[in-house]
Amino acid sequence: MAAALNGTPGVSPRRALIFLGPPGAGKGTQAKRIARTLGLLHLSTGDMLRDHVGRETPLGLLARPIMDDGGLVPDEIVLGMVAERLGRPDCANGFILDGFPRTLPQARELDEVLRKGSWGKPLVVNFVVDEEDLIRRLTGRRTCSIGGEIYNIYDRLPKVAGRCDVDGGELIQRADDRPDVIRERLDAYNVKTKPLEDYYSSQGVLMELSGVLNMDAVTLTLLEMVETGASPA
Ligand code: AP5
Repeated sequence: MAAALNGTPGVSPRRALIFLGPPGAGKGTQAKRIARTLGLLHLSTGDMLRDHVGRETPLGLLARPIMDDGGLVPDEIVLGMVAERLGRPDCANGFILDGFPRTLPQARELDEVLRKGSWGKPLVVNFVVDEEDLIRRLTGRRTCSIGGEIYNIYDRLPKVAGRCDVDGGELIQRADDRPDVIRERLDAYNVKTKPLEDYYSSQGVLMELSGVLNMDAVTLTLLEMVETGASPA
């Protein structure tokens, strides 16, 4: 369902964007591009959790086995992490949430955080991609071990094999991009996250985006959606 948000009472000129969609839909790829173009902060709960895992913090040690199995980290942990992050000054102009919220309790709590921060209604973009494409994208994904830039052996190769174009970092395959874990992640998405489509649709803030176009076309479409507050005709 398309929602025209410009001029809607309660919509703040500061931007709170939510990128919703299944694993591999292109949320991270597009969040990086749109954040750079519009000067917004990109907040990926997956990246934040992977950072904790890499540093072996208590949170990371708790999250690691859950992430390795393709499940969702408990709401209270993710909520605490996000609420703290959104309170920092670098979020003041606006942010893109990538991979959050993922459950109804997370969405309800986020509403409360946005209300208290006078953010008004978020703009929620739902990336729609069929499962066959998702599996191909996830098994083909390679990620920079330094800056997190995202590549793909089918659709986005680096200039030098195995090295990031941006910072020369080694390109690695994420631990949860194995076929058996991908299946679990897709199941978790269908059971726990998909209901958010109805949640945001009933608030009139959900916009659907076909993620099957090439990456540049998706970026242009997204910029138009953010600019106009409406899905392209
Ligand atoms: P997270 O890191 O958020 O993973 P995800 O949601 O499963 O999403 P992905 O990062 O896999 O996909 P994406 O949509 O960003 O796609 P991308 O742009 O990379 O979460 C990981 C784990 O952390 C979860 O399983 C959970 O355990 C935990 N977690 C995180 N948040 C949580 C929360 N809120 N609550 C509880 N637990 C949480 O693109 C994929 C590939 O496709 C890339 O190779 C890319 O180059 C390619 N591609 C992108 N766009 C296109 C295109 N248009 N055409 C062709 N190829 C494309």
